[in-house]
Amino acid sequence: MHLAHLRLRDFRNYPRLDVDFAPGCHVLLGDNAQGKTNILEAIYLMATLRSFRGVGGAQMVRHGAKGYFVGGNVVGQGGHEIKMYWSASERKLARDGRPVKKLGEFLGALRAVVFCTEDLLLVKGTSRIRRRFLDLMLTQTHPTYLPLLQRYALALRARNALLKHRIVDEAALESFSTELVKLGNELIRFRTELAPKLSPLTRLAYRRISNDAEELRIEYQSSVKADFAVELAQAHKRERTFRATLVGPHRDELQFTLNGKSAAQFGSEGQKRTLAIALKMAQAEYLTGIHGSAPVLLIDDVMGELDAKRRAGLLPLLQHARKTSGQVFMTCTEENWPRELGKDLQRWEVRAGALRRNEDRR
Ligand SMILES: Nc1ncnc2c1ncn2[C@@H]1O[C@H](COP(=O)(O)OP(=O)(O)OP(=O)(O)O)[C@@H](O)[C@H]1O
Ligand SMILES: [Mg+2]
Repeated sequence: MHLAHLRLRDFRNYPRLDVDFAPGCHVLLGDNAQGKTNILEAIYLMATLRSFRGVGGAQMVRHGAKGYFVGGNVVGQGGHEIKMYWSASERKLARDGRPVKKLGEFLGALRAVVFCTEDLLLVKGTSRIRRRFLDLMLTQTHPTYLPLLQRYALALRARNALLKHRIVDEAALESFSTELVKLGNELIRFRTELAPKLSPLTRLAYRRISNDAEELRIEYQSSVKADFAVELAQAHKRERTFRATLVGPHRDELQFTLNGKSAAQFGSEGQKRTLAIALKMAQAEYLTGIHGSAPVLLIDDVMGELDAKRRAGLLPLLQHARKTSGQVFMTCTEENWPRELGKDLQRWEVRAGALRRNEDRR
């Protein structure tokens, strides 16, 4: 799958951009603050409807403009046209010329995996970030997952709202509990099935990029130990104290250990970084396995940060993407990418919100 055309209007520092991209490996080269990461952000947005910088729509609207437009043509098994418009008062999404009513219908037209500095939060950050990682992978592979997740979130919010009242409406609470348990069990089932697939891929990637002997283990720890309904009922008293729902997949954790010790608490910076990259590599390989074609890889700056060993670990993934007519976008401030990638690179110069093809120099 590859993004053949990208169109931006008033997105970040791009007043307007129309650019064609061939399959293969693209390098976006430019000084700081020119708009390299913004391009990756726009591509990722079309794939996931989220910014990997974790910000909302308002921040992405070009200063002084009313709303942004991001659109693209995707070539894969069949082609897709994506259009999204966002302003404070209006949101529009279209896929293949038709307005999108349910997000589930939209996702999947473009698949992307991003490697960026924020990935470190997968290891260092809160459990919410790891749940979001699982959720994204499931959203990218199961069309029914996102609607399920959204319904769970609604039920949870409603239930929490009830628990905030001094006198709780027991009948209403009960009905939301039933809903929560039904949807929650489904979510847990999806996550339970994903974890043993994610784990060996991540371990393999980790081993590929670190020669160290430490043993990585990944364990999905659901907040529900055995029976959601029973455990929710048992939490009855504590819920009244904390005025919130205390059991359920919104409290799940994905635990990483190195030699039996928590990676977040005891891992070195290098180990954490390696683990974060390994997780993303596993995500890319998992998607490739399921869909039969590689997702678009968006690699923000990390090449510069990686030592030779870790770069070497990433290379097979990049080469595979290239072999299968996939696509890779890498940003950097100078030509510091691995020599092994040196040929067949398509270079672009990014300057002050404009993109210009650099004719190949070797
Ligand atoms: N909403 C916005 N409207 C206008 N300009 C914006 C907006 N958001 C960010 N920018 C500008 O975009 C530029 C940053 O773009 P980007 O993050 O893509 O830079 P970069 O080329 O990746 O730089 P670096 O090498 O430092 O990572 C900055 O000049 C910033 O001021
Ligand atoms: Mg950047």
